[in-house]
Amino acid sequence: MKFRPSLPGISAALLASAWFAVAGSAGASDYANVEVGPKFTASGELLFPEGFRRWVFIGSPLTPHGLNNNAAGFPEFHNVYVEPAALDYYMRTGVWPEGAMMVKELQLSQEGTFPDGSRVEQSGRGYFPGTPNGLDVSVKDSKRFTETRGWGFFNFGHKAPPYPAKAARAGLEECAACHIASAHEDMVFTGFYQHLLAPMPEK
Ligand code: HEC
Repeated sequence: MKFRPSLPGISAALLASAWFAVAGSAGASDYANVEVGPKFTASGELLFPEGFRRWVFIGSPLTPHGLNNNAAGFPEFHNVYVEPAALDYYMRTGVWPEGAMMVKELQLSQEGTFPDGSRVEQSGRGYFPGTPNGLDVSVKDSKRFTETRGWGFFNFGHKAPPYPAKAARAGLEECAACHIASAHEDMVFTGFYQHLLAPMPEK
């Protein structure tokens, strides 16, 4: 859209609304390299990332009670998804784009029949995915989240769905501190997803 403030006949109100439209789209263009970017309420809560189960599934670390003295903080599978366009950008450049979102959905394992919580299925003895049980999201926005190294962290509960429609930003100690201390690269535990994240050679 061409913006011509000197054009006669345009009312001040129209000019003002044109200006706001331009100013508003500046925010959106910060997320130019993702397709589905984060949406925030006026007070900074993150809206639930609708459709995330159709994003790219990149890994599923598992920390069962049976291997953690029956006291695992997160005994579930940790199913990690990333927004597809953000992943494409990362694979091309090795950098997560502004607006990149990662979702970690917890998923309980089916009830065990052995003391370590495992059970036997056709494929063998092990842990088998059961009910979803909570959701965490990390969002890259270097301007919005300056105090937590450019990423914001949001917890949508540690229980079965339905999940809340929005979540407040988590405090530094609750989430970001551990990612700052231990994440492999730019606040993400990329080391666990290497097989998928390695830059693809050009054809
Ligand atoms: C004590 C350390 C620690 C804390 C605290 C922590 N995380 Fe993580 N987070 C991890 C580890 C380790 C992984 C890698 C996958 C796994 O093992 O679950 C991870 C993975 C993630 C992922 C997937 C992307 C990635 O970085 O690998 C998201 C999203 C995430 N965490 C969000 C959160 C949120 C939201 C909170 C706070 C509610 C939080 N984390 C608190 C250690 C932590």
